[in-house]
Amino acid sequence: MLAAPVAVLSLWAAGVQAATDAEIAERLKPVGEVCVAGQECKGVATAAAAAGGGARSGDDVVAKYCNACHGTGLLNAPKVGDSAAWKTRADAKGGLDGLLQSALSGLNAMPPKGTCADCSDDELKAAIGKMSGL
Ligand code: HEC
Repeated sequence: MLAAPVAVLSLWAAGVQAATDAEIAERLKPVGEVCVAGQECKGVATAAAAAGGGARSGDDVVAKYCNACHGTGLLNAPKVGDSAAWKTRADAKGGLDGLLQSALSGLNAMPPKGTCADCSDDELKAAIGKMSGL
């Protein structure tokens, strides 16, 4: 007489257990993802886009990241607005795209991406355009 309800009860218990395991697995998932330098980091890009509402302007990037060195010519960085210095560099590197490439990888005292690790290529290019007037 009792066998059927007990069987039903144990099936029910197994079902609950499975749901609980799934929930635990969900809760145990890492909160963030590890981002590796030089690789696209989707989490960060999404967070940046959500926070900033899209791409930052050249002005924003320069003010926040590049101006620290390029504002004063620190460590011999080409100065903001010194178009002659920028043009010489652009000519040597094959234009704005060439400058972007060396900004991405860094050059001597110039850190990779000018310390704006989450800047997109477009954002960096806008910043270089802004500083150089090219
Ligand atoms: C810590 C200081 C520093 C910061 C911050 C910095 N730069 Fe530079 N940057 C330099 C220095 C120094 C040079 C000159 C390197 C050389 O020619 O040896 C340079 C050179 C450059 C060049 C010319 C590269 C070439 O091939 O001649 C570009 C382009 C550039 N920076 C872009 C940027 C951008 C864009 C930012 C901001 C996102 C930035 N930099 C932030 C120090 C900095």
